[in-house]
Amino acid sequence: MEPIKVGLLGMGTVGTGVLRIVEGHQDDLQKQVGSPIRIEKVLVQNKDKSRRYAVEADRLTENAWDIVNDPAINIVVEVMGGIEPAKTYMLAALENGKHIVTANKDLMALHGAEILAKAAEKNCDVFYEASVAGGIPIIRTLIEGFSSDRITKIMGIVNGTTNYILTKMSQEGASYADVLKEAQDLGYAESDPTSDVEGLDAARKMAILGTLGFHTSLGLGDVQVKGISQVSKEDILYGKRLGYEVKLLGIAERQDDMISVGVQPTMVKTTHPLAAVGGVFNAVYVYGEAVGETMFYGPGAGEMPTATSVVADLVAVVKNLKLGVNGRKMFVPYKEKKLKTAEQIASKYFVRLHVQDKAGVLAKITQVFAECDVSLESVVQQPNKSIAEAEIVIVTHDASLASMNRVLAEFEALEVIQTIKSVYRVEG
Ligand code: NAP
Ligand code: HSE
Repeated sequence: MEPIKVGLLGMGTVGTGVLRIVEGHQDDLQKQVGSPIRIEKVLVQNKDKSRRYAVEADRLTENAWDIVNDPAINIVVEVMGGIEPAKTYMLAALENGKHIVTANKDLMALHGAEILAKAAEKNCDVFYEASVAGGIPIIRTLIEGFSSDRITKIMGIVNGTTNYILTKMSQEGASYADVLKEAQDLGYAESDPTSDVEGLDAARKMAILGTLGFHTSLGLGDVQVKGISQVSKEDILYGKRLGYEVKLLGIAERQDDMISVGVQPTMVKTTHPLAAVGGVFNAVYVYGEAVGETMFYGPGAGEMPTATSVVADLVAVVKNLKLGVNGRKMFVPYKEKKLKTAEQIASKYFVRLHVQDKAGVLAKITQVFAECDVSLESVVQQPNKSIAEAEIVIVTHDASLASMNRVLAEFEALEVIQTIKSVYRVEG
């Protein structure tokens, strides 16, 4: 039986897993799709590098055009990462009528519209399940499983590296730098881990999830982003004392037609299921008007979990080939983008301050909150022998982002406040 021929762009963490699954599960895959699936050629930067999985030398190439221009190849799996040259190869492969499977959220979040338009023009499939939350099939879930509902909120722990770091800091008191190195060694982090720790990777994933969930084209520029590099052990400890875990949380919300999307370190109440998501695990909480609360949980990064999603997409493309239905538009955004203003974005906040240790300080601080129309849920003055000043931790009730920004601007000018140590959104 003629095999379906696949070109693999990249044989790093994910590409190696794709080879292992396609070749290791070949019998099962063949029974599901009715043909053998063969990875015909594999693009790498350096053919001489030692590999964790043996591939015959004549299947490896350092020239992407050997794959992109090979008329025998039906499907290109892009797991090399980055924007260029991956985008050029993908567009050229589509131009040549090849279907695409990719794990590249950077490319899909930034240039997804252009790639999907080219795919539509050429009647080709472009599937990107692995680009969000690794082994969790959340993209198919949003497009198909929730097509009947109107989604109002998506909250996600969608970056494995940062969740691994925060969990180790919280559970073992480990240092940020040591755990980042571990996450890199385990293959979780991006080649430049800045995009993990500064929240960009999660922001790209939230732009994709928000687009699919709210049927509106959202780009990276629509996402408010803050990473975890400023999260301190002190914040994690204070959070614990007050019943919170610090998580890098993506939050996409819709009220009527107004949308907000943000990624920020967030104090999540320990009773909320997202607070228990530890290590490299990801979870996506989806709230739909009809279905109510749902949550999807699984490994968010790493070789085999990510490859599971990539190969599932490959199977979907091959099934479409057999049925002759490639190029079916899986998703078309049909709603105009309307972003909430800072006045319309509301949440609770956690604020930690170092203040002068003298009478009347608390009154001045609470007065600022009152003037800015922010009401308080709790105020705790914690003993802290390591500093000369007093330390105050405040949790607010729901307040608009605009009001909180006014509070923080007033605090900058208030002489009784030495330092605004940290500000977190609070959920749950
Ligand atoms: P990786 O380990 O760095 O592997 C990249 C592979 O692509 C390597 O084999 C490299 O060749 C090859 N490559 C890179 N640039 C190339 C170029 N210009 N020409 C030829 N070959 C090139 O990356 P990864 O972790 O597998 O990630 C791949 C993609 O999956 C990225 O888009 C990433 O965001 C996404 N993703 C990763 C994970 C994860 O857990 N790692 C999870 C979900 C999604 P050499 O081997 O010769 O260096
Ligand atoms: N660097 C990413 C993460 C890989 O840590 O989640 C999975 O997309």
